[in-house]
Amino acid sequence: TAPLKVAVLGCGVVGTEVVRRLHSSAPDLAARIGAPVELAGVAVRDTRRPRGLGLDPGLWTDDPLALVKRGDIDIVVELLGGTEPARSLAVAAMEQGASVVSANKALLAEHGPLLHESAARHGVDLLYEASVAGAVPLLRPLRDSLGGDRITRITGVVNGTTNYILDRMTETGGGFAAALREAVDHGYAEADPTADVEGLDAAAKAVVLAALAFGVRVPPADVRREGITGVTAADVADARALGRVVKPVTVLERPTGRDGVLLRVHPAMVARAHPLAEVRGADNAVLVEAADAGPLLFRGAGAGGVPTAGAVLGDVVAAARRRVLGHRGAAPQTLVARSGAVPGAR
Ligand code: HSE
Repeated sequence: TAPLKVAVLGCGVVGTEVVRRLHSSAPDLAARIGAPVELAGVAVRDTRRPRGLGLDPGLWTDDPLALVKRGDIDIVVELLGGTEPARSLAVAAMEQGASVVSANKALLAEHGPLLHESAARHGVDLLYEASVAGAVPLLRPLRDSLGGDRITRITGVVNGTTNYILDRMTETGGGFAAALREAVDHGYAEADPTADVEGLDAAAKAVVLAALAFGVRVPPADVRREGITGVTAADVADARALGRVVKPVTVLERPTGRDGVLLRVHPAMVARAHPLAEVRGADNAVLVEAADAGPLLFRGAGAGGVPTAGAVLGDVVAAARRRVLGHRGAAPQTLVARSGAVPGAR
C-alpha cells in the first residue's frame, strides 16, 4: 500500500510530541491504519533551531504554504495556534485534497463553519478532538455518541493553566504571578498566557462545544467572559472558609423559556463536593447533562505536550483509516450549524 503522507505545521510543545510519535511509532501506526504513515515535512519558523528529534534535515521547512501546496500530502496537522495563517493554510490544504487535523480552538471557534464547508466541498475530513480538553475524548462523544440525545447543559473546567494557577494559590496561599510562572514552565499555557488567564482560551473551547452539543454557532465575542487575573489570595481564603474552592468554570446552558444558548467563562466558588472541585492541576473535567443519558462526566489530562499529542494522533489515525478505506468524503458534521440566537450574551 502506498504510504500516507503527513505534514505537520508548527513544532511547539504539542507539535514536538506529535512529530516524535509519528517517527518513533510509525510501525505501530501503520498496523492500526492498514497503511504506512510517512512524515512528509514539518513547517517551523526557524529551521536551524536544534530540536533533537533525529529527523532527516530535509523534512524541515519554513514555508508551510509550499508544503501544503505540494499536492501529495494526505493529512495536514495544523498546530500553529491562532487564526492566521492557520486558516489560510487549512483551507489551502483542503483545496489540495488533504484532510486536516487541528488542535487549534481559536481557529475552530472563529472559522469553524467556513472550514467545515471547505471540508465538505473537497470531500476531506476535518478533525480537532485535541482542541478542547486535550487528551479527554469529548468532541466525538458529543457529536456521535450523544447524537441522538438532547444535551441540556455543559459545565466544565476546560483550561488547565487557570485551573493549575488557582489550585496552586489554594495550596500555597500565595499569589497569582508565581503560580502563572509555574504553569508556563510546565508547558500548559498558550504561547501568550493572556489567552488563558483572560478566559479567551476557554471561551473559544465553549464555542466549539456549543456547535457540537447544541448545533449553534456562537461568535466568540458573545461568550460572557471574566478572567482570573483579579482573583486574590483573600478570595481563595474566603472560598476555603465557606467549604468551597475557586475554579475556572465554563458553562453552556439553554436559558429556560428562551431560545438559544448562553455561554460563560469565569472564576467561581465551587462546593468541595462538586465533581469540578476535585479536578486538579492541568486536568480538565466536563460535566455533560443530557435528557436521555443523564449526567456524564469526562475527566483527564487537559493540557501538556504528550497527552494532547495522543489526541492529535487519534485524529490522524481516524483520518488515515478513512482514506485507506477510500472514503475521502467528510463525515457528517454538525459544525455547519444554523446561526444561533444568543439571548443575554454580551
Ligand atoms: N493553554 C491550554 C490550557 C492548553 O491551559 O488548557 C490546552 O488547550
